[in-house]
This record gives sequence, structure tokens and C-alpha cells, in this order.
Amino acid sequence: MDIQDVKTIGVVGCGLMGAGIVETSAKAGFNVVVREINDELLQKGMARLRGSMEKAVSKGKLAAEDKQAALDRISATTDMEAFSACQLVVEAAIENLDLKKQIFADLDRICPPETILSSNTSSLNITSMAAATQRPDKVFGLHFFNPVPVMPLLEIVRALLTSEETMVLGRALGEKLGKTVVVAKDRPGFIANLLFVPYALDAIRWYDAGLATKEDIDTTMKLGFNHPMGPLTLCDFVGLDTLLFIADAMYDEFKDDRYAAPPLLRRMVMAGLMGRKSGRGFYDYGK
Ligand code: CAA
Repeated sequence: MDIQDVKTIGVVGCGLMGAGIVETSAKAGFNVVVREINDELLQKGMARLRGSMEKAVSKGKLAAEDKQAALDRISATTDMEAFSACQLVVEAAIENLDLKKQIFADLDRICPPETILSSNTSSLNITSMAAATQRPDKVFGLHFFNPVPVMPLLEIVRALLTSEETMVLGRALGEKLGKTVVVAKDRPGFIANLLFVPYALDAIRWYDAGLATKEDIDTTMKLGFNHPMGPLTLCDFVGLDTLLFIADAMYDEFKDDRYAAPPLLRRMVMAGLMGRKSGRGFYDYGK
């Protein structure tokens, strides 16, 4: 399949990442089918997406008529069968491998045999998702970054049996979405998190050890290295539960102390301090 053949993209899940992928795809001219497990989550995701598009309009990044045209290209549903109309599907459900394998098996049954299937997972094994289908050559990773409409990077991941044709299509898709593409092997963390996670975990370890205040740790990386966010602010932004999940997946595979979650991180997650999404992490974000 060629990128010109891709008219309709499916997105499984309309959470933070799913909504961003839907927005980016619709703005790039694709028709989009987005599916959530119930109406409440679907409406919440679509409200987030509309809010982001309104922000883009108010920032002068998107014309009001283009916003409406993009919204008109989106079809929101709770029905998995709607993915039968898609030439490419991006799975952006929660990070649970068994659930993802089930989604891939369902997509394999529902979608035409030529449809390409991808996952936005940040650390789970793409090869095992591919193995849940009869088309492992047409399965690959498409890892977007939050906020998806703003971040220019797209990491594409080649699983063990992904074909060259699928990778070529992935690159072309990334370009059409206005992203710069990098390619990684199917190893937990790919490129981005393999480098980011040890850095984030070190920031937490040194904060916990009393090296400096959280503000000074963050200011150092912001002003000394021109990062838009310091590491602890970025941990809150990513979500401490998500960070812990990725670190655990990486540690599980590599058994390398660089990826071992610090006790403070695990306890913060246990205590419900997830970062921005819960209102409190290293910093307090109010209600
Ligand atoms: N649509 C389009 N453009 C938008 C937009 C939207 N909804 N919202 C903002 N923008 C644009 C703005 O116009 C602005 O563009 P210019 O620089 O051209 O003016 C730019 O995006 C920045 O927006 P803001 O000025 O509103 O916000 P900011 O300057 O405070 O930046 C931020 C916010 C982009 C989030 C920035 O703090 C940042 O880059 N933080 C780091 C984010 C990051 O590292 N993300 C990766 C997380 S890891 C991940 O996702 C993967 C994983 O596996 C864990």
C-alpha cells in the first residue's frame, strides 16, 4: 500500500495521545475514525481535541475554516467495526499488553487484509502485538509525543517481522503529518525513552537524596541546557504512573539498574500523586 492509498486513519482510544493523533491526522487532510470504549470517554476526548484546535486557532496556527473542515473529517464512535473503513489504524489505548494484543487480534479480524496496523505504545513490545495478527509484516510502532499537535517528532518502530514496504509507508505518513521521523528497533523505550527515562529517574534520585530543591534541579536544565521544561516538571507532564510503567517495562527487559525506578517514584504513584493529570506530583497544580 502507498501513502496515496491512505484516505482514512483509525485511532483506537481518544485519551491524551489518541485525541492528539486524531487532531493531527484530520488537520493533515485524512478522514479519521476514532473509537472509545464508551460515550463518556469519547465526549471527553473530543472536547479535549476541540479545545486544542481552538487554542491552535487563537495562536494563529490554524484558520477557523480549516478547523471546521478538520472536525468534519472526524467520525467518533464506540464501535470497533467502524475500523473496517480504514487503510491504517493507530492503537492508542492504555498501556496494557494483554489489552493491546486483544485489540490487534480484533483489528486483524475487522480490517481488510491490506490495512496497516500500528501502536503508539512508548515501551511495550510491538513484535508481540504483531504476533496477535495474521499480518505481522503490516504491523509497526508509531510513537507520538505529547502534545501531539505541537511536538515535531515521530518515532517509528520496526518490529521483528515488519516489512520494508510498511516502514516506507510509515515514513511517508510521518511526513504528511508534518513530523520528522526517526526509526528505531523494537526494544523497550525505543530511542526517546531509552535516553529520557534514565535522565528522569536520576533527577528523582538526586532530588530524593537532597542534592538540591526541585526548583533548582529544574532551573538548571531549563537555563543551563535550554530545555523547555526541567526534568521534574517534565515527569509531572508525562505522568508519574506512565513514567513508572515505562521504567518497569525497560527494567524488566534489560535488568539494568539505569532503568530501576527510584523508591520515591513508586511511592508517589502509590499515593496517587501522578503529576499534572491528578493535580499533584512534584509540583501542585491545584484542582
Ligand atoms: N496546536 C498547535 N500549536 C500549538 C498548540 C495547539 N493546540 N498549543 C500551543 N501551540 C504552539 C504555540 O503556538 C507555540 O508555538 P510558537 O513557538 O511558534 O509560538 C508552541 O506551540 C508552544 O506553545 P505555548 O507557548 O502555548 O506553550 P509553552 O511555550 O509553554 O510550551 C510545551 C508548552 C510545548 C508543552 C513546552 O513546554 C514543551 O515543549 N515541553 C516539553 C514537552 C515534552 O518534552 N514532551 C514529550 C513528553 S514525552 C512523550 O510524550 C512520550 C513518552 O513516551 C513519555
